[in-house]
Amino acid sequence: MPERLLDEHARLKGDSEIARIRRTADRLSQLADRVVVLGIGGSYMGTRALFEALCHPYHNELGREARAGRPRLYFEGNNVDNDFAQGLLDLLRGSRRGNGAGDRWSIVVISKSGGTRETASALRIFLAALEASLGSGSPTVDELVVPVTGRTGRLREMATGLGCRDIFAIPDGVGGRFSILTAVGLLPAAVLGLDLVKLLEGAAEMNRRFRDCDFADNVVLQYAGVGHLMETRCGATVRVLSAWAKGLEAMGLWYDQLLAESLGKQGQGATPLTVVNTRDLHSRGQQHQQGRRDKLITNLIVGNWQREPLAIGRRARDEDELNSLAEVTLLEMMSAAIAGTNRAYAEDGRPTADLFLPAIDEGSLGQWFQMMMLATVVEGRLIGINPYGQPGVEAYKKHMNALLARD
Ligand code: PA5
Repeated sequence: MPERLLDEHARLKGDSEIARIRRTADRLSQLADRVVVLGIGGSYMGTRALFEALCHPYHNELGREARAGRPRLYFEGNNVDNDFAQGLLDLLRGSRRGNGAGDRWSIVVISKSGGTRETASALRIFLAALEASLGSGSPTVDELVVPVTGRTGRLREMATGLGCRDIFAIPDGVGGRFSILTAVGLLPAAVLGLDLVKLLEGAAEMNRRFRDCDFADNVVLQYAGVGHLMETRCGATVRVLSAWAKGLEAMGLWYDQLLAESLGKQGQGATPLTVVNTRDLHSRGQQHQQGRRDKLITNLIVGNWQREPLAIGRRARDEDELNSLAEVTLLEMMSAAIAGTNRAYAEDGRPTADLFLPAIDEGSLGQWFQMMMLATVVEGRLIGINPYGQPGVEAYKKHMNALLARD
């Protein structure tokens, strides 16, 4: 995907998929100050990862100018939680004071199949609220709702029925959790003003390394090999991704889904678990240090942080006895925590691996997404599991639909 999109962009410029996505994203940004992304699983987790890693940690709380005119972003259709849906509707209704772009909201609805109940139900509810919010002179629903879906299906039909001005297609061969680098992730990323080309270039660079490099420089094979050997030879069936930055948690959750849904089949597949440290050293750390010996802990470590380091500082009275560390920054504390935790695990024979993210930016994230997708497919091959499809998820849907059936 990344090479294909980049190549098409270089050839077709304004007519490329990337250019079309950017135009729609800019249009939505001008029309509305809040965008509700409806989607679940692979149709939502990658966007959340991009949002949490690359946007200001308090993006939605910032004024429009501080957001460079980019909309606030909300996620729904990823559950059937009544109170959260109502809470978001309260917020959307409450924010409406006039008829300017700053008072309006819009919907990006993402579903490859177009039939996922959570997303489809949310679309009905939020569409009704959107229609009710529009006065005369407002933009119309066909301008404010942008679907991303497969070439056929119920959402495609609904979008056509609504006359949606822009509809984006998810290519046939790309499954939900492998779709972050299609319009599924790229459209919301463009709404947030992120650099799509850098994201795709990062992914393409990872493809190149995977194809061309020997094992010594091939991080995909190294990652897949370590995970596979630790699981099959050493009983490390729990794969802990230890993210040493709060903004990386959703990247870990995206990977949790990728690994769990791709390889959790036929009684196989490691169990993924994302933790954020140092936070979770105070909740799960005890178990990881002294619990069952069934874990491989992979540290996800940031090379360059985005902001200036904060020092602890000095106070005239030193009741908390921190003056001896007055010059120490939070970055230094983080480095010491990482090294200290690794040392503690090593002393107890607890295996760890380190994965360095050079920076929290589009290029690095593009590399990360592609690396993990490739590694998951490689691991599938190693254990004889088809990483695509999720037949086990159908069982709950069947029972839920039977329980809801009204004759
Ligand atoms: O990875 C997958 O294929 C799934 O997690 C899907 O993304 C999820 O079930 C949502 O499906 P859809 O996009 O068809 O609504």
